[in-house]
This record gives sequence, C-alpha cells and structure tokens, in this order.
Amino acid sequence: MANSDRVMVGIVGAGFIGHLHAEAFARVPNAEVVAIASPNAARGRALADSFGIPRHFTDYRQLLAMDDLDMITVGVPNDLHAQVCIDAARAGKHVVCEKPLCLTLEDADAIIAAGRAAGVKLMYAEELLFAPKYVRAKGLVDEGALGEVFLVKQSEEHAGPHSPWFWDVRRSGGGVLLDMGCHSIAFCRWVMNNRPVASVYAAMDTFVHGDKTRGEDHALCILTFAGGGIGVCENSWVKGGGVDDRAEIYGSQGNTRADLLRGSSLTTYSDVGYGYAVEKAETTVGWTFTMYEESWNYGFPQEMQHFVDCVQRDEPPLVTAEDGRAVLEIIYAAYLSAGTGKAVDLPLMPIPAVRQPIDLWMRA
Ligand SMILES: NC(=O)c1ccc[n+]([C@@H]2O[C@H](COP(=O)([O-])OP(=O)(O)OC[C@H]3O[C@@H](n4cnc5c(N)ncnc54)[C@H](O)[C@@H]3O)[C@@H](O)[C@H]2O)c1
Repeated sequence: MANSDRVMVGIVGAGFIGHLHAEAFARVPNAEVVAIASPNAARGRALADSFGIPRHFTDYRQLLAMDDLDMITVGVPNDLHAQVCIDAARAGKHVVCEKPLCLTLEDADAIIAAGRAAGVKLMYAEELLFAPKYVRAKGLVDEGALGEVFLVKQSEEHAGPHSPWFWDVRRSGGGVLLDMGCHSIAFCRWVMNNRPVASVYAAMDTFVHGDKTRGEDHALCILTFAGGGIGVCENSWVKGGGVDDRAEIYGSQGNTRADLLRGSSLTTYSDVGYGYAVEKAETTVGWTFTMYEESWNYGFPQEMQHFVDCVQRDEPPLVTAEDGRAVLEIIYAAYLSAGTGKAVDLPLMPIPAVRQPIDLWMRA
C-alpha cells in the first residue's frame, strides 16, 4: 500500500454514482480519494472541487498510472466496466466495480482472470448488502430467528433512469432486469448464503417506454435455489413517485419485511415543494416521502468502509467479482426464460454467445 495509514482511492466516473462514491469515502477515515477521472473535464473538476480531491484527469489511464494509488471505484456506463477493471488490475490497483459487473460472461471471466494474475482484489459494489435495515434482516436469518428460510422477495423500482446511455441496450446491455434486477438477485443470493441457483423463470416486457428503449421496463424473475428455497425479484422502470426498495423473508418459524426507503423517510405535505425528496421522485409538491441520510440508509459509506478495510488488512471482501459473475449468469438465464417461456436450468452449458444479455430475450 502507498500509505500504511490510509488506502489511496481513485474514482472513475463523475456522474450519479461517482458523486455517491465521493460522498461515501468522505465518511471513511482510513481512505483518501486522491483523484477522479472523467472524460467530461468540467464534471470531473466540479466533483473534485466539491470534495477537496486534489487531482482530476480526462483519461482514466492517467489515473491508473499514479504510483500513490491503491484502489479504484468504477462508476462508468456498463459497456466500459470490463475494460476499466482489466486495465486497473493490470496496473496493480484493487478494484471496486459498480453493478452490473459487465455485459458478458466472457468479459466477467476476463476480469476475474486479470485480477487473479495481478493479485488484486476485485470487489463488487452491491450496496444492499450493507444497507442497515437489510443487514438487520440478514442478522435475523443468521441467528435462526426465522427458522429455515424458504422464500425471499426483493424489489427495486422507479420511473426510469436518468442518463440516456441506460436506455440504449448496446451500452447498458439490457433494461430494468440488468439495471436493477442485479440488486434483487444479489440480495436473494446473500439471504440464501450464496447457495447456487438451480433454475430461473422470468417474464418481462417493454410496457411503457417503447418510444425510448428496446429494454424491458418491468421484469419478474423467480429463482429456485439448489437444495430448496425460492427467490422472487420484481423490478420496474415504470413506477412513479420515487424509488421503492423492499424485501420480505419467510422462514419456517418467522418472517420479516423491510421497506428500505419509505420506512426511513418523513411523510410530508407541501403546496410549494422543496429542494430534494427522494431519488428519482418527479415532484416534491403534495404528499411526498422526504428522505434523510439516503446514502447511509442505502449502505454506500458502509460498503466503501468494508472494501477499504479489506484492502488495508488484506482480507477477503463480502462480495466479489465472482458474485457479480453469478448474478450475471442468472440474468442471462432470466432473459433466456423470458424469450422461451420456460424455466432455464443453471449452470448454463454452453454459455450462449451474445454481445449483450438482452439479446437472449430479443432473439426469441
Ligand atoms: N449501486 C447503485 O445503486 C448504482 C446506482 C446508479 C448507478 N450505478 C452504476 O454506476 C455506473 C454509472 O452509472 P451513473 O448513474 O453514475 O451514470 P451517469 O450517466 O450518471 O454517469 C456516468 C459517468 O461516467 C462518465 N464516463 C463515461 N466514460 C468514461 C470513461 N471512459 N472514463 C471515466 N468516466 C467516464 C460519464 O462522463 C459520466 O459522468 C453504471 O454501471 C450503473 O449501473 C449503480
């Protein structure tokens, strides 16, 4: 490590999540963000200035060339994840990659191989595994308070993403299943202690946003775990009124349900509206759910604290590129299932060759 007291961090991408990463690291005492990379120089500079980050580059490879850098976070459009992760590993930097890990299973394997060859940690940024309310729910599962868990449901929904590249499936790789289903799938795997998924059934369509995307805008996905247990994932890009993030866990001796955002917000009425309500809410006029500590409630600072500690102490992370690959394989199976109308068994053999996962649905 460049400095034994602190992990030196670079942030690649100065958009929505790049901002959240900078905000999260500001709460991690043993991390120091030393540089940002964004092809949009003004955006990179603005983010650097607002968090007192000393350097910003327009090419992430300049950031990777820094000697005093231990770890990067990857918060760029999905089609760029693989190249940035591989370049970072080859430069000897530990990597925190945003979801989804990448667009294809071949790329996922290449990322994992590059990380192993370089001896760096490949960490997969699934913040729901660090969200305090969900951590408490998993704690109940782990201490046996719910008995044997047989069903876990997770749902993340909003009215649609904020940047044009999300709607272009050549860049995003798919619609809401890939964008937000990856959270729900990762959550179900975590609650089931990462048991393998034996089969996947999915139904989806482009119900509302067909004018701007070929991607599905509402998706349902049922996972059957090896050895028993079911996961149900529901994800939407057509649900107005701000983000909803909910989970339910059912066991032989109990159950629990968590409403991550509505359950930690103020219920507000305003004739005139106010500055900020909840991520992706269309209005703040009338009855709204006013968020506070949104980043903390989602688990972003806790997630970055964990990854920084893993680098500093050379410990294995809770969630890795291998988990990101497992989630992506389930997404492949879900697109295949939606295309054929049949459940799809895992592991996929052979791995279907696609440019992006949604091809598996569109081909059918
Ligand atoms: N964990 C979460 O909940 C969560 C939330 C939002 C986004 N994400 C993920 O984060 C990633 C980025 O999404 P976003 O919402 O920030 O998108 P965004 O459009 O808001 O920002 C993307 C940024 O990447 C920059 N960029 C493009 N090419 C680049 C390059 N070669 N090098 C450096 N920067 C480059 C763009 O200039 C832009 O600032 C996506 O993979 C998305 O799935 C995760």
